[in-house]
Amino acid sequence: MTIQFDEKNLLADVVGKGNGITRAELERSQPRALKALKSFQKASEAGTYGFPHLPFQTELVNSIRKYASQVRGTYDTVCLVGIGGSALGAWALDCGIRGPHPVQNSGTTGRPRMVILDNVDPSFTASALASMDPHKTLVVVIGKSGDTAETVSTFLIVRDWLEQALGEQTNSRIVAVTSEGHGSLFSLAQDQKYTTFFIPENVGGRFSVLTACGLVPAALAGIDIRKLTRGAAEMTHHCWQPDLQENIALHSALCQWLAWTKHGKPIQVAFPYSNFLWGTAFWFRQLWAESLGKARNRKGELVHAGQTPVAALGTTDQHSQVQLYIEGPNDKVFTFWAVNKFSTAGKIPKRKFNVPAFDSLAGESLAKLIDAERRATAAAMVASGRPNCTFTLDRVDEEHLGGFLQMMEFQTAFLGELLDINAFDQPGVELGKKFTYGLMGRKGFDEYRDQFAAYEKKRAAVK
Ligand code: PA5
Repeated sequence: MTIQFDEKNLLADVVGKGNGITRAELERSQPRALKALKSFQKASEAGTYGFPHLPFQTELVNSIRKYASQVRGTYDTVCLVGIGGSALGAWALDCGIRGPHPVQNSGTTGRPRMVILDNVDPSFTASALASMDPHKTLVVVIGKSGDTAETVSTFLIVRDWLEQALGEQTNSRIVAVTSEGHGSLFSLAQDQKYTTFFIPENVGGRFSVLTACGLVPAALAGIDIRKLTRGAAEMTHHCWQPDLQENIALHSALCQWLAWTKHGKPIQVAFPYSNFLWGTAFWFRQLWAESLGKARNRKGELVHAGQTPVAALGTTDQHSQVQLYIEGPNDKVFTFWAVNKFSTAGKIPKRKFNVPAFDSLAGESLAKLIDAERRATAAAMVASGRPNCTFTLDRVDEEHLGGFLQMMEFQTAFLGELLDINAFDQPGVELGKKFTYGLMGRKGFDEYRDQFAAYEKKRAAVK
């Protein structure tokens, strides 16, 4: 597995003083980076944070593979019901290995497709159900808390849809992934005897792609989860190294921290030049936003930390966003995700028409063009003093994807340490969830229904 990090276009020598970080700054901050590594390592070894250990869970991988082999051939669609960290990891894996949805074939029993129901848009849910055959669908319901309104409501609809077609067989076509011993989904799964896999307590939703949350749907969709975890395990080894040249997660975290906090770049643009990495870009948005967007630091001081993550797709968004990126406010760091080898070169036929724009590309390849476009965009950004850096994956296969996702998680954890914030909680999303429960009349949430009523009263008073 080869994943490289190129930080040169973040440097002041390339993008100019003020916009870029300096080698001297990097040098000076190294002890701080090493401290971040050590403190995170200590907490991880103590079991406070579980994601670094996930690639080494051979037993879990074997049990998921065993289950997948038992049910293989009985379904053409894996229907995932979950949201946030309980859906985005599976999407990143499915998109990365099977391809983005517009180019996926309709599912077959030999090559099932994944349908992810991660929203409560009624039209979307109805259309998705209409596109699936309940006799050939395996439902995977995922929720760490097991109480999330979107997941619970969608699951009730999907379960009913299954039951109408399958009757007593319904429960055998449902797999639950949840916390062990608590939560409503756990109770239901026990009661209904669903096949169940558990999410470790010390792994939060956005760090859970290598728990059963990501691995169960991935294995059911035919992705090789042994290779995924192998890539992640190899990356984990690098992520514990103190040498920045070997540890790209720590190196990139330090660069990003300097660009963000010392050079005024509050926006992070993840810019994959690969449609297969588009799902990963959306997974990354959650990881970066929920982990690093925090009101208080660990000392309890109000800091309102956060770097807004944006996902852009190369080359598509060159024709949509790059005008803003190059001439708008210089408040962003761009991180390109490049791929060395695509599954095919995409040969452009050699046919000449004596039309310069066409003839200059005839006989070339799409792989060469996408690479040239990315390098050209990076150069254009440098010309405008826009700091950027690049991760290069040798190719997008299970090992590289597993390694890349794991590296991103380490990078985020290290940044949390550098910022002295807790990157693993999400107090900001809890209140909205509670208001929703209050509005939907859930028992025990009257207090939030009343708070919401007070908010509406306040709005009504405004003329
Ligand atoms: O990262 C997180 O913890 C959240 O985004 C959760 O994944 C999300 O809210 C869904 O929660 P649950 O898995 O409990 O349904």
